[in-house]
Amino acid sequence: MYPLRRNRRLRTNESIRSLVRETVISPNDFIVPLFVVEGKNVKEEIGSMPGYFRLSLDLLEKEVKELWNLGLKSVLLFVKVSEELKDNAGKEALNPEGLMQRSIKTVKNAVPEMIVMTDVALDPYSKFGHDGIIADGKVLNDDTTAVLAEMSLSHAKAGADIVAPSDMMDGRIFEMRSLLEDEGFHDTAIMSYSAKYASAFYGPFRDALDSAPVDAANIPKDKKTYQMDPSNREEAIRETLMDIEEGADIVMVKPGLCYLDIVRDIRNAVNIPVAVYQVSGEYAMIKAAAEKGWLDHDAVMLEQLTAIKRAGANMIASYFAKEAVKLIS
Ligand code: PBG
Repeated sequence: MYPLRRNRRLRTNESIRSLVRETVISPNDFIVPLFVVEGKNVKEEIGSMPGYFRLSLDLLEKEVKELWNLGLKSVLLFVKVSEELKDNAGKEALNPEGLMQRSIKTVKNAVPEMIVMTDVALDPYSKFGHDGIIADGKVLNDDTTAVLAEMSLSHAKAGADIVAPSDMMDGRIFEMRSLLEDEGFHDTAIMSYSAKYASAFYGPFRDALDSAPVDAANIPKDKKTYQMDPSNREEAIRETLMDIEEGADIVMVKPGLCYLDIVRDIRNAVNIPVAVYQVSGEYAMIKAAAEKGWLDHDAVMLEQLTAIKRAGANMIASYFAKEAVKLIS
């Protein structure tokens, strides 16, 4: 009578497969990253991210209405800052009338229920393309976290629901939480990029914002003194637990696909929501292979998103959000 158990019984047809399916992605899982630029009626395709665009505020307004109608309920805002506004201090990041602050208000006016998350980091504002203030060839930690806290406050004042520091300075969550509490922004949440690796998959994003580290004397060539070494696993847990102690409401692993072991470790180690960022390079790889006709775009996209959720992600920041939601609904 062998075998008593035949695993194929529960795979016989799509109905039974859907009955026993363990992981299902839905619009509720997604955070939509959006790139904003100055101007009117501007929709610029990002060279290394086919099908993804930088939008001016008027088109941002249209876009978020469309996203909302598709069931997508949170956006993560990034701004492209013009060269002459960049410095080594993040001054423009604190401008109450800056592009980020206006973007937040634009989204909130267009769709008040849309959750607005904002990128908190200095690289789009840095003339050196780094996430911190630089002196003597080093990225300064504590001077940077002080600005990041002010930046969070500025975003909260403009109406952000969740501030999302993507910089990897030490102690920034505590600085941000403390200032937000002091200023009465008790309900502004923090989503910390807590295990963010020094990855080669961020290239297309740096094209999108023109934010790559500049090649100059005494400027670090990469972000390895603050972002994590891809070889490390235990350190990711340590980083994440520290951010939770400092007051993070949501933690994040970034990038996605190459780091799913970390996602599972962290999902098992913490009891708050875990986000995963499927980054620009992951998007670009699928687009490029599909363009060549080498992979089935939609199938690979859904497989990767499902894998990220199966690994333990409670939410996924993904440039595929809109396409995926159109397919699954
Ligand atoms: C920088 C930042 C990066 C991304 C989000 N915030 C790039 C970097 O760290 O250099 C990458 C996102 C992506 O590649 O999609 N603070």
